[in-house]
Amino acid sequence: MSISYKELGFVNTNEMFKKAMEGKYAVPAYNFNNMEQLQAIIKGCGESKSPVILQVSSGARNYANPTLLRNLGKGAVEMAGDFGYTVPIALHLDHGDTYELCVSCIESGFSSVMIDGSHHSYDENVQLTKKVVDYAHKYDVTVEGELGVLAGIEDDVVAAESTYTQPAEVEDFVSKTGVDSLAISIGTSHGAFKFKPEDCTLNEDGILVPPPLRFDILEEIEKKIPGFPIVLHGASSVLPKYVAIINENGGSLEAAVGIPEKQLRQAAQSAVCKINIDSDGRLVLTAMIRKVFNEKPDEFDPRKYLGPARDELTSMIINKNTNVLGSSGKY
Ligand code: G3H
Ligand code: 13P
Ligand code: ZN
Repeated sequence: MSISYKELGFVNTNEMFKKAMEGKYAVPAYNFNNMEQLQAIIKGCGESKSPVILQVSSGARNYANPTLLRNLGKGAVEMAGDFGYTVPIALHLDHGDTYELCVSCIESGFSSVMIDGSHHSYDENVQLTKKVVDYAHKYDVTVEGELGVLAGIEDDVVAAESTYTQPAEVEDFVSKTGVDSLAISIGTSHGAFKFKPEDCTLNEDGILVPPPLRFDILEEIEKKIPGFPIVLHGASSVLPKYVAIINENGGSLEAAVGIPEKQLRQAAQSAVCKINIDSDGRLVLTAMIRKVFNEKPDEFDPRKYLGPARDELTSMIINKNTNVLGSSGKY
């Protein structure tokens, strides 16, 4: 039995992106796999009055069970209502890799899907993306496509090097496929180890500074498709504060480097309307759980370590929405 996202209280991303483009900010897309992440995302975005995209990968569906995840999303909308939050909430498939997966998500109440054909040839990417768009638009579901390849891990696909998006291709891709937004590759990458240390420079505080994002490519893309919503994947900042807590409490994350917040702030003021964040949330949870385990070795009530982790994640989200994406206070 299929269910429309509208019955679950979600919205698609059209209106969100229109407002983000006009208001020069980016809508946060936070990944979740479990209840605590979802609670933090809803509370963080509700309290900061930010629109939000709840993002589910196929890894998350496999981990948590698709039916349970969708119902968690439904519960999150109701919880937002209980708290009096009026922010729009989208439920989005992250890195959908097949037409069938996109259809299955649309039938189970997703309001937006990504079809990631970036690992295929250009023509195959166009064909696959168009097929998904033709189906999704019948149900008023928005579709994100991708051109260019990010280095790092996308589910089971690992790319050693990034291939930047070619501005010459974007107009043709957007018009042939009918996508509603486009993920591009301008130097971001997935995970907590976004750059090789040898590609970074050391600043005076001994912190690794990565090479800057290719804003020149972004500008060229904007000229080719003016006013079209752009998406940045792999946009976690890998906040040094949480990496340090992890390492001080028995972890070992050496040379973890992310995208500097200043550059994300700049991107959010451009045609970039959606910024994807997963790793930063993972790091916050890991840091706080490690800290409790280290400081209280006799603690075994999950609420006593998941609770503080969830609260810290809420604060991180409020801070990111307010100081980096600029999405706070928009609803
Ligand atoms: O882009 C990938 C996201 O961070 C999701 O990661 O596939 O491990 O759930 P995952
Ligand atoms: P990060 O690994 O930088 O958080 O990127 C997440 C992402 O792009 C999800 O699609
Ligand atoms: Zn991604």
